[in-house]
Amino acid sequence: MRLSGKVGIVTAAASGMGRAGSEIFAREGASVAVVDRDEQGVNQVVEEINQAGGNAFAIGADLRDDKAAAEIVERTVSEFGRLDFVWNHLGHPGPAAVEGVDMAEYDLAIDLNLRSQLVTTEAAIPYMRDAGGGSLVYTASTAGISGSPQSPVYSMVKHGIVGFVRSLSRRLGPDNIRVNAVCPGPIDTPMLRVFVSRPDSSPDAPSRTAEEVEEMVAGRAGVVPLKRFGQPDEVAKAAMFLISDDASFITGAALPVDGGITA
Ligand SMILES: NC(=O)c1ccc[n+]([C@@H]2O[C@H](COP(=O)([O-])OP(=O)(O)OC[C@H]3O[C@@H](n4cnc5c(N)ncnc54)[C@H](O)[C@@H]3O)[C@@H](O)[C@H]2O)c1
Repeated sequence: MRLSGKVGIVTAAASGMGRAGSEIFAREGASVAVVDRDEQGVNQVVEEINQAGGNAFAIGADLRDDKAAAEIVERTVSEFGRLDFVWNHLGHPGPAAVEGVDMAEYDLAIDLNLRSQLVTTEAAIPYMRDAGGGSLVYTASTAGISGSPQSPVYSMVKHGIVGFVRSLSRRLGPDNIRVNAVCPGPIDTPMLRVFVSRPDSSPDAPSRTAEEVEEMVAGRAGVVPLKRFGQPDEVAKAAMFLISDDASFITGAALPVDGGITA
């Protein structure tokens, strides 16, 4: 098993890639704190993991709250006795518009893509340093590598997390704490619909019906060189690789998991 004996946290873990990661990491021997504001969702994920013989516990937490974002670390250490990895997977699409931008949506994008990651990281570093090392993985996006006309604010914050990852990898290297990002392309989760249904740039473009969105979703797969969207487990396995000792000399990387889009 590739994560045998390791203890870690996955955020945004009631759905999509975070859920897949919690399940896969537990199957590979990790003890996992499964964190999401959707309490019912995390309880269900944990029940399934524990029934399958894994070791997980649920934390219902709104990570927009600084206290909650720090406490997930303390609660994990008090439950499992140590901390080896965090997959900071939480994120938010933010506002589509620049002209006429909704600043409340902007604040949400900052809080859920950058602020909570900083707060959780601050809480995690001392435990990893004391243990002689650890692995921090963040979810950026292909929009953190290249620009996105549909989602410029999202691209701004995801470039921000990639900058944080690169800087932290250099800062924490001497402590044997590796820091990396996964950069998903379009992955078939509820959030994909938010991005695909956005107009290219015009703030006045009409909103779309659910049927139109599904048509667009089907059409958009064609722009991916592999001609399909990714599945949540395909990103979770890349995160697992970065967490695992197989990636022992990899730090500061922003790994595209995108079917070739950024190529
Ligand atoms: N789906 C994609 O195509 C795609 C592409 C690139 C990057 N991403 C990134 O992947 C991450 C999540 O995407 P997903 O597609 O797996 O998501 P998802 O839509 O499947 O799930 C998001 C989860 O986040 C939780 N959440 C939302 N606000 C929260 C809060 N304040 N506190 C705690 N939990 C909260 C929700 O309850 C939900 O379970 C984000 O960082 C996103 O930017 C997604």
